[in-house]
Amino acid sequence: MSTESFIITSARTEELDPATRTAIIQLCIAAHQEEDFQHLFSYVPSGGLHFLAYRDELLVGHALVTTRWLQPEGHPILKTAYVDAVSTLPAYQGYGYGSALLRRLASEIGDEYVIACLETERTAFYNRLGWEVWHGPLAGRDEHGLIPTPDQTGVMILRLGQLPALDLDQGLTIECQPGRIW
Ligand SMILES: CC(C)(COP(=O)(O)OP(=O)(O)OC[C@H]1O[C@@H](n2cnc3c(N)ncnc32)[C@H](O)[C@@H]1OP(=O)(O)O)[C@@H](O)C(=O)NCCC(=O)NCCS
Repeated sequence: MSTESFIITSARTEELDPATRTAIIQLCIAAHQEEDFQHLFSYVPSGGLHFLAYRDELLVGHALVTTRWLQPEGHPILKTAYVDAVSTLPAYQGYGYGSALLRRLASEIGDEYVIACLETERTAFYNRLGWEVWHGPLAGRDEHGLIPTPDQTGVMILRLGQLPALDLDQGLTIECQPGRIW
């Protein structure tokens, strides 16, 4: 990868201008082949932290961090950086942009969060970057209790510094969000 014209920036959702929002949506749709990304800024109207990779003026990579609340079994609830909408423009995939973006993300969020989480089908890609698959039973938490998610696969965590020892074979829960658990 040539790094001469490659930069990574980060910005809060509120700071994104309309053109950048449009570029993010188009990038996510192109990468995931998923039209629902049209609604990204309805799902995340504010409070997200966006990582943006530019090749010259072109947005080629994106990842989004929002705050969620994991609870590993036997531990308190942890302020969690939940990572969504990880995307590299198809023509630019396989050149290291996604890896660079995720390394930058991990290096920037350690002051605010002790752990990061995501769910993916690309576990090998994230594993190379230090993420670990959670092997234990998974569930959502809501006001009524736990909602087991036994069919969920590909939930991964990244340890960010001052985290107590975790057993990845124990249970892991996350607060339910409207329309999704993981
Ligand atoms: C997953 C995704 C974000 C990765 O972004 P990317 O920019 O292609 O990532 P990288 O180029 O850093 O790494 C991709 C692969 O290329 C390899 N690679 C990176 N730089 C390379 C180089 N210079 N030469 C050869 N291979 C390289 C990496 O080892 C990696 O291999 P792996 O997938 O087997 O782990 C991107 O492919 C994408 O947007 N996919 C569609 C949407 C998606 O699946 N998102 C993630 C779901 S959570």
